Amino acid sequence: MSSSTEAIKERLPVAQVIGNYIKLERAGANWKARCPFHNEKTPSFVVSPSRNTYHCFGCNRGGDIFTFVEEIEGVDFKRALEILADRAGITLTRQDPRERSAEARGYALLEEATRHFEGNLWNNETALAYLRGRGLADETIKRFRLGYATNDWRVLLAHLRAKKWSDQEIERTGLIIKSEKGYYDRFRGRITFPVANTQGKIVGFSGRHFIPGVKEEGAKYINTPETPFYNKSKVLYGFDKAKQAIMREDVAVLVEGQMDLVMSHQAGLENTVASSGTALTEEHLEMLKRFSEKLVMAFDGDEAGFAASERGFNMALAKGFDVRVAKLPSGVDPADLAVKDAEALRRAVGEAKHIIDFYLDSLLERGLEARALKQEVARRVVPYIALVRNRIEQAHFVGRVATALSIDEAPVWEEVKKRERAAFETQEPERAAAPPKTKERRIRDKLSGLIAWQEAKPTGERSIDVEAARARYRTIPGGESEMTQGERDNLVLQAEVYYGGSERLPAEMNELFASLEQELLERELVQAMANLRLAEKGKDEGMMEQALARCHELSRKLNEVKQKFKYA
Ligand code: CTP
Ligand code: MN
Repeated sequence: MSSSTEAIKERLPVAQVIGNYIKLERAGANWKARCPFHNEKTPSFVVSPSRNTYHCFGCNRGGDIFTFVEEIEGVDFKRALEILADRAGITLTRQDPRERSAEARGYALLEEATRHFEGNLWNNETALAYLRGRGLADETIKRFRLGYATNDWRVLLAHLRAKKWSDQEIERTGLIIKSEKGYYDRFRGRITFPVANTQGKIVGFSGRHFIPGVKEEGAKYINTPETPFYNKSKVLYGFDKAKQAIMREDVAVLVEGQMDLVMSHQAGLENTVASSGTALTEEHLEMLKRFSEKLVMAFDGDEAGFAASERGFNMALAKGFDVRVAKLPSGVDPADLAVKDAEALRRAVGEAKHIIDFYLDSLLERGLEARALKQEVARRVVPYIALVRNRIEQAHFVGRVATALSIDEAPVWEEVKKRERAAFETQEPERAAAPPKTKERRIRDKLSGLIAWQEAKPTGERSIDVEAARARYRTIPGGESEMTQGERDNLVLQAEVYYGGSERLPAEMNELFASLEQELLERELVQAMANLRLAEKGKDEGMMEQALARCHELSRKLNEVKQKFKYA
């Protein structure tokens, strides 16, 4: 490794880098988490500060901070290096824009545009007064780097050209639009909200109409279109500033608009992200899920029907999110409430109801006649219950519905199951994870890791007799499998995590050997029984006898092993 990668590693410990993306939990000297690279319920992703590495025992991915950033950001090594160097405050190359890659030049351009807009805003008393009038503190305006695009056709274009970016480069960021008469600025007469990627680099803008004395015509907001930098389905406004708080609080608040987001942060809800008026995507949910699986929706009280957002809720529930709804007064969005009564906004978020309770309660409040109520519940509430992954939670909601309708639980369950089957049949196959390891493989890996881990210790500090263990392994069919150094390192780390601190290592090892023997015998027995059935079918007396004897022998051995296992 070159010295710059070493220097970066020194400044950015592995747990800090990974902790930026996912929630880590202490596990002795190490950290544990649910793997961000594959779907799992129990954590098998381990981060080892002493080795400065991570490894997932479920999908077998592992490495250092560079491989982690490559995988999680979906970038190549060079880009991961740039990202981490940037974060570590280490300069890789001289920062001459002409020498940098097209991508880096693009980011620099977007950064320059942000500065340009910021400059405009702080020189424009009316625009500033508008924002202050809407309740924004100067500090918030600065923190979110709000700006102003003056109501001119080519001011930004000229500014960027003067800084030596080409028209093509500017067009690639979505900041200018081509017409027969040449290029012109996309954002004109608008308050600008820079939108950042997860790392906080500006990738695009949202612009809210603001021209003193001019009523908006057309769209109140316009946004950067899809560009190589800005991918709408992967960007959540405010995520870069919210992710730490989402992890800390273990819940994300979702609002709709730019103003809502900025004002919610100002009101102390720093775990807020905004969908910027578009529907939630699978990618958004995956991003959020790395930090928390709890979501609170805070929308205008009038939009509590949420027709437009229903797909997002469905997806979130189906992904196992706990989805809650904050009840805001009707006609009031989070930004409005933050200005009027920040405490009321925080309270509404804190008291958010589970979406199923929310729907059920709003139906109950409508005072429908019994039959209509049942139909509405079947249509509006039951589909959500069918999406709940956790069975205990699901049972809770079934109970609630039954009580609310004064009926038995059985018919409610029937409806839920019907929905589940329907959903199952139309379900898209899940993204394939690494193929699961066989049971035999898992046991062998644990054994090999345990032995190799002990072997690496000075003889006096070992808890097991490594030579004897090796000898025993040789008596087992297949023996100990060959491994590369990398595989061995991973298994050693695994053993350390699983068994470090255990006072009964010899017993653990015996159990592993016994379960390996048992597993192998069980498989053989299944095979022998199949042979027996074959012989019976073919009425081959000789073969039948042989197969039967083999079955007896194997089940006797199996019993022996089971006994040993029991008393080990
Ligand atoms: N939006 C959009 N294009 C529009 C209108 C809205 O992209 N033509 C998005 C913006 O992200 C906006 C969000 O939808 O923030 C919510 O829209 P709306 O409620 O109309 O605006 P507010 O966020 O309430 O903005 P303001 O309070 O400044 O009126
Ligand atoms: Mn608003």
